[in-house]
Amino acid sequence: MKKRLLTGLQPSGELTIGNYIGSIRQVIDYAKDYDTFLFVPDMHSITVPQDPETLHRRVREIVGMYLACGVSGVENHIYIQSEIPEHANLSWILECTAYMGELARMTQFKAKTENKKEKEIRCGLFTYPVLMAADILLYNAHVVPTGVDQKQHVELARNLAQRFNAKFGETFVVPEPLIPTVGAKIRDLLNPEKKMSKSAENPKASVFLNDTEKDIRKKIMGAVTDSGEGVYFDEENKPGVSNLLTIFAVFQGITIPEAEKHFENARYGDLKKEVAELLVEKLSALQARFAETMASGVVDETLDRGREYARAIATETYDRARRVVGLGRA
Ligand code: TYM
Repeated sequence: MKKRLLTGLQPSGELTIGNYIGSIRQVIDYAKDYDTFLFVPDMHSITVPQDPETLHRRVREIVGMYLACGVSGVENHIYIQSEIPEHANLSWILECTAYMGELARMTQFKAKTENKKEKEIRCGLFTYPVLMAADILLYNAHVVPTGVDQKQHVELARNLAQRFNAKFGETFVVPEPLIPTVGAKIRDLLNPEKKMSKSAENPKASVFLNDTEKDIRKKIMGAVTDSGEGVYFDEENKPGVSNLLTIFAVFQGITIPEAEKHFENARYGDLKKEVAELLVEKLSALQARFAETMASGVVDETLDRGREYARAIATETYDRARRVVGLGRA
C-alpha cells in the first residue's frame, strides 16, 4: 500500500508564487508515489478576521487552482476541513495534551502577535498549530510537504503524536515534514529578509497566481535586489537575487546551477526582465486553465468525492482516539 501524503493551503488570501513553489509544485511531483490528501484548511483562516463571502469564494478557488495546476481530483482526495467535523473534535483531544509553553514558542504565533494588544489576539491563533496537528494525525499521514515556515508546526504534530502514543498506546502515525531543497522560502520582493506571503500588507511584495501581466512585470521589475553585481546564488549576501534565480529555475524547470549559467555575465536588470517574461507566460496559461476549471462543475464534484473518502478515514481515527482517552462509551 502507498504511504499517505497530506498538505493544505489556507484560503486566507490570494495564492502567491511562494505557495506554488513551496507547496503545489511539490504535490505535483510527489502525488504519484503517495496516497495524497489535499485539503482547504478554512477553519485556520478564521483565526484572523475574514469577510464571509470572500472566504467562501477563496475556498473554492484553492481547489480550482490545484486542479488548474495539474493535480488530479480523481486520483487524489481533495476536501474542505470544515466539512469534516472530526478535525475540530480531534483538535480538542490534542489540545488537552499540548502545553501552553510549547505553543507559546511557535515562531509564527510570536510573529503574528508582535506589537499586538492581548484583546487583539484570538485564542484560535494560539491553538492553531494543534488543529494543524489534528489535520495531519486524523489521516495518519506519513509525509507532510510544506515550505520551511510550517516545519515547526509539523514538528509539533510529531511531538503530540509521540506523546499520545506513549500515554494511550499506538494510535497515530508520526509524520515527517517534507521540505523542498529549492524554493522552501520564496522571499518578499520588497524585503527579502521576510517570506512572500498571501497576507502581506503591501501587494507589491508578492506575485499572486492571478496577477495581471502588467502587475507581474511591475512587481518583478520593482523587486529589491542587492548591492554589487553578478547574478549568482548566495542567499546570505544576495537574498534578492537568489530569490529571483530560484523563481526562474522553478518555473523554467531547471536547476539553480543551470539558471546561474544562463545568467552568466547578465546584469540584475536582465535577470528581472527574463523572470517577468517567464512568469507572464506561465501564469497566463495557468489563469486560462483556472478560468475553465471554475466555470465547469468539476470543483464541487471533486469536493464531494474527496469529502466522502476522507470522512470515512477521519471517523475511524477519531473514534479510536476518543475511545482510548475514555470519552463516550467504550
Ligand atoms: P499556508 O496557507 O500559509 O501556506 C501553504 C503552503 O505554502 C507554503 N508557503 C511557502 N513556501 C515557500 N515560500 C513561501 N514564501 C511560502 N509561503 C507559503 C507553506 O509552507 C505551506 O506549505 N498552516 C498551514 C496550512 C495547514 C497545513 C495543515 C499544511 C493547515 N493544516 C496540515 C500542512 C498540513 C498554512 O498556513 O499554510
